[in-house]
Amino acid sequence: MSAKPVRKAVFPVGGLGTRFLPATKAIPKEMLPIVDRPLIQYAVDEAIEAGIEQMIFVTGRGKAAIEDHFDIAFELETTMSGRGKSLDILGPTRLRPGAVTYVRQQEPLGLGHAVWCARDVVGDEPFAVLLADDFMVGKPGCLKQMIDAYNRVGGNVICAEVVPDEHTHRYGIITPGAADGPLTEVKGLVEKPAPGTAPSNLSVIGRYILQPEVMGILSGQEKGAGGEIQLTDAMARMIGDQPFHGLTFAGTRYDCGDKVGFLHANMAMALSRDEMADDVELIMNELLEARVEPRRAA
Ligand code: UTP
Repeated sequence: MSAKPVRKAVFPVGGLGTRFLPATKAIPKEMLPIVDRPLIQYAVDEAIEAGIEQMIFVTGRGKAAIEDHFDIAFELETTMSGRGKSLDILGPTRLRPGAVTYVRQQEPLGLGHAVWCARDVVGDEPFAVLLADDFMVGKPGCLKQMIDAYNRVGGNVICAEVVPDEHTHRYGIITPGAADGPLTEVKGLVEKPAPGTAPSNLSVIGRYILQPEVMGILSGQEKGAGGEIQLTDAMARMIGDQPFHGLTFAGTRYDCGDKVGFLHANMAMALSRDEMADDVELIMNELLEARVEPRRAA
């Protein structure tokens, strides 16, 4: 089938990031680094790999750091050049002129509200949504895998991951239909179901390919779980009218909205980098030894 191409991606970065305070008091959590790149850089790289041409950031407070990150840093670059230092390291921060748009979400009323704030820039075409705090490591990247699936089945494709039963109340949860390899038909969606009531343990994680009709549904501004305008509720209303699938991505997700998940991602990425892996492994082993030794002595 020939699905309309996905050219635009929305990056909602307007959340409060309260779980990372005080680190996120003056910078958005999407600027927290995994080794030496901010989370948002990985998400943008993933979108570019998937063929996305237009990046739409829905920002709130702390917008300056993200805007500056994807801009020319005149003073820094002039000083570095003057000292004979290469600017190659800054290459990924340079987006094609005109390829980035900023929209302001004045109040953090929920993920659905953040996506809706981008409606005029998205227009009448399918679009992707990437939550940079869900850090996805895979080859090809997660969004590329999803776009390949979308090109086969069309409609809406969301990223799905099996989570332990005791965690289902933290996520949007899928009522699954027929499965075809990594693709599962989505028959229903519920945001943060009460413990013991989840229809499955297949959760929705932070990558979405959505049809523009979702914007019309979001304009109703209905509040859901936690008093927030939930993207999950709006997506649920498209089921039945349009094809809707969950794709289980081949790769690893790190929940970098959570402190332990964020540390996990940093350790894993540091161990994947040739120039530091040996040193990092040594340090990790020393730390583990030091943790075990006092217990042995006790
Ligand atoms: P979270 O549920 O992780 O909330 O948002 P949060 O505010 O970012 O973080 P905590 O829980 O207070 O620590 C999921 C995603 O939705 C975006 C966030 O930036 C994050 O990428 N979001 C959420 C918005 O852009 N606007 C909102 O109103 C809410």
